Amino acid sequence: MTKSNVNIAIVGATGAVGKVFIDLMKERKFPAQEIRLLASKRSEGKVISVNGQDLTVSETTADSFKNIDIAFISASADVSREFAPIAVQNGAIVVDDSSAFRLTNGVPLVIPEVNANDLLSHEGITAIPNCSTIQMAMVLKPLHDVNPIKRIIVDTYQAVSGTGIAAITELHEQSRDFINSETISPEIYPHQIAFNLLPHIEPFLNTGYTNEENKMIEETRKILHAPDMLISATCVRVPVFYGHSEAIHIEFENPFLPDDARKVLNDFPGISVIDNPQNNEYPMPLNSANNNDVFVGRIRKDLSCDNGLALWVVSDNLRKGAALNAMQIAEHMIKMGLIE
Ligand SMILES: NC(=O)c1ccc[n+]([C@@H]2O[C@H](COP(=O)([O-])OP(=O)(O)OC[C@H]3O[C@@H](n4cnc5c(N)ncnc54)[C@H](OP(=O)(O)O)[C@@H]3O)[C@@H](O)[C@H]2O)c1
Repeated sequence: MTKSNVNIAIVGATGAVGKVFIDLMKERKFPAQEIRLLASKRSEGKVISVNGQDLTVSETTADSFKNIDIAFISASADVSREFAPIAVQNGAIVVDDSSAFRLTNGVPLVIPEVNANDLLSHEGITAIPNCSTIQMAMVLKPLHDVNPIKRIIVDTYQAVSGTGIAAITELHEQSRDFINSETISPEIYPHQIAFNLLPHIEPFLNTGYTNEENKMIEETRKILHAPDMLISATCVRVPVFYGHSEAIHIEFENPFLPDDARKVLNDFPGISVIDNPQNNEYPMPLNSANNNDVFVGRIRKDLSCDNGLALWVVSDNLRKGAALNAMQIAEHMIKMGLIE
């Protein structure tokens, strides 16, 4: 099967990730034979241009997956739990963007540059990792391959688009209201996000960590096949529209010179090193938005341990953190002959 004779369904075609997915179809020449745009009943009848063709959005129902080869599901974990098994029963491969199946046995959790071979064991559903996990694991993988990682401490600075379209609107509106000295009534987040930041992404667990932090820990271990890797995370929502940033401190088994790490990272597909601080050159969310790469900079020795490195990592959460990674999984599965 090739990209041009595959039938695809996009559940969540009207969402933040779905819209980027549609842009990427054109950019990456993923024309497909039939493209079925799906969302909730609210969006029924909306018209969206895909590859120059006007297509109408339908409500997602159990009948939406007949004759579909690949179903991209990018709505919510509940929607995925309801429709992914139905899509598989109809013979489709599911590429799921939600957290519903990421840690389920038999569901490959894949970043193609990192662990594409895990796709070989799929049973119908494949999952993309959380956006903040993807950009971190992209950087950890090439480093871990040459010098085993003992321990990671990561702090994130995550854009509001990671929460979806409603949060993008909320930051716009709150910013305008704040500047006009008008009352701000948070709806999506528990507190004002404009001109503020929230050390709180997803619900708190009994451990004191949030669910988002737990995802970074557990998903990274699954992707890298390193169940005992020591990881601690603090995830923070910041008033940035697009692009997640991460300060990552890594302790290795052996010494790692920053220059050697720079070379290893530069050679890895999908990573761009921008690391010239003397010229004020380092990755920033503004530059990462609408780019496919994971950008790394501020590569330096971690002064707090013998074999440590400190890094700054930025990536567009809607692209490599979601839509692009999902599309790359499908491209790999087609290339690997896994889609009949
Ligand atoms: N945003 C990111 O950076 C990111 C990164 C990685 C993974 N993800 C995951 O990707 C998924 C989508 O995120 P998003 O940011 O695109 O959210 P979003 O902007 O809120 O979009 C949600 C989409 O889901 C659709 N939807 C809602 N209820 C539905 C239902 N009952 N049946 C079918 N479709 C329904 C919505 O359709 P309507 O327009 O009709 O409401 C909309 O198209 C989530 O699972 C999220 O965890 C997001």
